[in-house]
This record gives sequence, structure tokens and C-alpha cells, in this order.
Amino acid sequence: MKKVTLLLFLLMVGFVLAACGSEESGGGSESADGVQETTIKFSHVVAENTPKHQGALAMKEYIEAESDGKITVEIYPNSSLFGDQDEYQNLVSNNVQFIAPDLSKFVGNNPQFNVPSLPFLFDNDDEAIAFWDGEKGTEILGSLEADGVLGLKMWPNGGKHVTNNERAITSPADFKGLKFRTQGGQVLEAVYSTLGAGSESIPFSELYTALDQGVVDGQENTFSNIESKKFDEVQEFMTIMNHTRVDYAIFTNTEFWEGMNEETKAIVEAGVEEGTKVAREEALTLNEKALELIKERGEIEITELTPEQVEEFKTALEPIYEEFEEEIGADVYEAAREAAGE
Ligand code: LMR
Repeated sequence: MKKVTLLLFLLMVGFVLAACGSEESGGGSESADGVQETTIKFSHVVAENTPKHQGALAMKEYIEAESDGKITVEIYPNSSLFGDQDEYQNLVSNNVQFIAPDLSKFVGNNPQFNVPSLPFLFDNDDEAIAFWDGEKGTEILGSLEADGVLGLKMWPNGGKHVTNNERAITSPADFKGLKFRTQGGQVLEAVYSTLGAGSESIPFSELYTALDQGVVDGQENTFSNIESKKFDEVQEFMTIMNHTRVDYAIFTNTEFWEGMNEETKAIVEAGVEEGTKVAREEALTLNEKALELIKERGEIEITELTPEQVEEFKTALEPIYEEFEEEIGADVYEAAREAAGE
């Protein structure tokens, strides 16, 4: 009798576990066509009218349609699930299956993620894409393997521009004594110290308030981030610099990625490709539109630099390359310069 009760109990436990399993990411129950019923979470920190969110949306639509709704992709924008401080750890723990952070936020894991912060390296998205799709870029994206994290594809946002509350910036000397928020990393810190300014790394979700309350005088970002987060409401001057970049990559948890069966993985992989295509196609247009909106709102005074003024900044920031050559690698510099057509 005891044995029968035990058997019944074990059967019940098995049934409950199987039912729970169908809710888990990458390990769900299979339908007739072999696709696993799965919920995938994609967390990011920016607003919805941005290249990153549009890429995530395209990925969601593709995956849900191709899997006949068996795979659900939940997107959490605006740091609503995880923010800059905790999204990586939660990817490592598989609490989220996709994140697409600004690569300069990963410099603590590998200083080579400083590439988007190297001054005036890439002129446009295509050059940055060529680097990250190339051998060195792919190697850097793959460098988080020990954490169980896989870098899949680079998604661009664009060149960064400087905003502040003190003065219109037209020359390196204008930076003196100001304090800027950065996304993080040794190279961005060096950019500001070279120009005689201070810097502090602040999470994106806290940036508007930090600017509003004067914790820092300014920040650097893409038009799309400045417009969608309304930083022009709390900043008086913007200089179009294009001196550094926001570039992302889409990262996943290796265990989740490898845990999918063939049919499921094929759909998710194709979804990542679709998201990549849209993010890459939309980045420039969304940034151009954002600049138009900022101009229309008229809240911020915009300065465009002359080619001579840009040269002055390039000369001032050139020593940064030598300073970081050992840490980032001469081979990475070479590959980046090649991608930049130099
Ligand atoms: C920032 O923190 O300013 C940006 O990196 C946010 C983002 O993901 O574009």
C-alpha cells in the first residue's frame, strides 16, 4: 500500500514539474512541429522610439509569427525589468534571455569593449558594423564565454554628441572645469580628463534626474537617446561632435541558447537576424528624425562644428590611442582602422 502511495506521489510530482517546465525559457514542452513552448525575456534600458527597441520589436514579431505563438517574446524597455547595474548579472543567471547593452558598459569584463569610445574612430554605422562583424569584433563579442554569455550580433545606435548646461562648446578649452556623465569605462574617462573635465558614470535610468539636479553639467549621447529621454529639457547647449559612439550587441545566456531544440533555435536565430537587420536599417533614420524633433522643440541651443574645429578636437584627443594601445591591443586598433577605411 505504502509503495502504491509513493508511486502515486512521484507521478504527481512529475506531472507538476512537467507543467512548470512548459513555462520555462528554452526548456518548454514541444508541440507537434517540434517547437518548444517558451517565454523569452528581452530587457533593455532605452525608450521605445529607438533603434534598439525597434530591433527587439522586429525580433519579437518574427519569432512569434514563425512559431505560431508557441514562443512568446516579452520586451521590457526603459529599465523596467533590469537596468544598467543588474541586467548582466540577470543574464548570467538566465532570469532574462536577451539584453543589448551599450558595449562601453562591458569594459569591466574586457577593456576591448572600449572600441566605441575611441575618439573619432568610426565615421558612421557601416564602419562600426564592419569592425564588429569582422574577426576581431567577433572575438571580442565571444569573450564573455566564461560567464555563460554569448555575444551574437552588433546593433548600432550612432555617433554621440555633447550636451551641457554651462556654455556652447566649440573648442577643447570649453570643456575645462565641467563635469560629464559617461556610460562608463576607462577611455571615456580619459576623453574628459584629457579635455580638462571631470566625469562620472551614472546609470541611464538616473541620467535625466542627475542632469536636472546638477549632479553633472552634461553628458554625451546619440540624438535618439537625447530626444526620446528629453534630455534637451534639462540641458541648454548641444554640440554635434560624433566623437564617440553608442554601439550595442545582442547577448544571450549560453545555457538557454544551447538548451533549445533544433526547431526552436532555428526560429529564434532567424529572429535575431531579423532584429539585427531592422536595428541596422533604422539606426541612422531614427537618429536623423530625433535631431529634427530636438530642433523643432527648440529647447536646446545647437552648435555645429566647422571642419577646423573638429580637427582641433581630433588633435587634442589623439594621445588617448597611445595611452590605451597596450590594454586594448594593437591588433584591435589595426582591425578597427581597417574597418574605418584608414
Ligand atoms: C546610455 O547609457 O547613455 C546609453 O548607453 C543607453 C543605451 O542603451 O543606449
